[in-house]
Amino acid sequence: MQTEIVTKDQTKFVLQPNLKDYEALYKNFDWKNVHNEIEWFDNGELNAAYNAVDRHAKNHNKNKVALIYEAANGKIDKYTYLDLKHMTNKFANVLKKLGIVKGERVFLFLPRIPAVYASFLGTLKVGAIASTLFSAFGEEALLDRLGNSKAKAVVTTPDLKQRIDKIKDKLPDLTYIILVNNEPIQKIEGQSAMPITIDYNEEMKEASKEFEIEKTHPEDHAFLLYTSGSTGKSKGVVHAHMAVLQQHYTHKLIHDIHPEDIYWCTADHGWVTGISYGILGPLSNGATVLLYEGRFDPEGWYSALERHEVTLWYTAPTAIRMLMKAGEEITKKYNLSHLRHIYSVGEPLNPEGIRWGLKVFNLPFHDTWWQTETGSMLISNYPCMPIKLGSMGKPFPGIVAAVVDDTGQELPTNTEGHLAIKPGWPSMLRTLWGDEERYKKLFNNGWYITGDRARKDEDGYFWYIGRADDVIKTSGERVGPFEVESVLVEHPAIAEAGVIGKPDELRGEIIKAFVALRAGYTPNPELEEDIKKFVKQHLAAHAYPREIAFVDKLPKTRSGKIMRRLLRARELGLPEGDISTLED
Ligand code: WTA
Repeated sequence: MQTEIVTKDQTKFVLQPNLKDYEALYKNFDWKNVHNEIEWFDNGELNAAYNAVDRHAKNHNKNKVALIYEAANGKIDKYTYLDLKHMTNKFANVLKKLGIVKGERVFLFLPRIPAVYASFLGTLKVGAIASTLFSAFGEEALLDRLGNSKAKAVVTTPDLKQRIDKIKDKLPDLTYIILVNNEPIQKIEGQSAMPITIDYNEEMKEASKEFEIEKTHPEDHAFLLYTSGSTGKSKGVVHAHMAVLQQHYTHKLIHDIHPEDIYWCTADHGWVTGISYGILGPLSNGATVLLYEGRFDPEGWYSALERHEVTLWYTAPTAIRMLMKAGEEITKKYNLSHLRHIYSVGEPLNPEGIRWGLKVFNLPFHDTWWQTETGSMLISNYPCMPIKLGSMGKPFPGIVAAVVDDTGQELPTNTEGHLAIKPGWPSMLRTLWGDEERYKKLFNNGWYITGDRARKDEDGYFWYIGRADDVIKTSGERVGPFEVESVLVEHPAIAEAGVIGKPDELRGEIIKAFVALRAGYTPNPELEEDIKKFVKQHLAAHAYPREIAFVDKLPKTRSGKIMRRLLRARELGLPEGDISTLED
């Protein structure tokens, strides 16, 4: 496969894909052989931020644009690799001045602005652990994550800070709020109350551009991302600096980054995709990355693709379906001819989406499969490999994937089972924060069990079937039913609640809640609206139930656990399965 590229000055050149023969590379692959793709310190030390920034700031990429930032108001700023080095060094110095040391947790609760890059990478430079919070999170979601990780500092904006203010009294470890503000912060005389507010702009202005990066070990923890399971509160997925090796190499081979590319990952840094492929993978490759602050809007997105001459585009099936819905006509208003390779992640990519891509962009979307826990893409479609419409593709070189039964035994071809991966890939999660027991339960008979159900076909392609657990994927965002249920029962009118994902043509799934009201309350439209608002405010704007059903009581096991499986089966008219544990 070759791609012909025509540059602005009309010169033509032919691009060879970085991965030319998938089968050949897969057969002989060893991660050790690609260690020199990234840069190591002496004694085998490794810092992911050094790889993403500093190594480029000292070579021919020094003055190359690393980041194109298009603000929500349309203003465009560009930052070179040297600029990024200085910004990240400055932030590292700010943390150092505050006394933040290796291993401590620094959270980013920010919109899509350049401070995300400065603070995420600056945190890694001091050896502290960076984490991100999706800007739609409400008080409860913030409290769980900041509390569980004993966060020391949060970088945020005045707007978002209001939500932290409501819970700060319950966060004894939270010492600093670093405020990214357009206006200088009013100095508060005799400020003593915790957490102490720090002015990001002021401190950055004063901080030195030079910083001696912490020489971290490849296994030292670098970043921590909270994600939802089917039971219990969200869990902190811990990744090591070593992850950057795989983020780098998968971005190179799957996203096919070349020096002249302009790359846009539409995911927010509140989720793993925004970290692994919005920051670490592409920067480690010396790429030029677009950071688009605005919300989703078809015309806005098309004009950004045109304006920035985006060549590589990583997005999600819900966005693709929404673009399809907006119609083909509007695509004709824009010059989208710079696009040369496009891909998707987060939920099943329907064949219609791929066909539509071919029709309007003359390119097929390439599906990629991975998770917060896997840290980088593990199964995907490669530029050099034929796509089977609807399949997630094949395992990346170095990845052994299989479909196994409940006891961890491999199943024959074309049989549905648990999608499982042989542990040991570089960007595998290292633990769950403060919960080694729960971490160990992710493995069975020598396999990491992903929580997805799949089958493998006779050609080695993997096909997604669904989740094995109750985790909901709505608009590609991962939501745990337990978190939603916990907030619902805090509403004064609600006695008990059960939450499921209901298939939805546009969003993949929507959240549906079944609620039983307390005595004295009766269902009505105002109450329904109030419940939705309550969840948005307390948990997250994206995690509220779009549908609510009022029921007299919920199906429960004899031990009192809500049977979501049964709620779902009844909702979808599916067989109820084994109901022997159902209470009378
Ligand atoms: C789902 C996102 C079908 C899956 C990077 C997985 C997918 C969960 C695909 C992880 C895909 C991700 N096809 N389903 N190509 N990619 N998923 O942690 O259920 O937000 O387990 O990571 O998304 O979601 P997470």
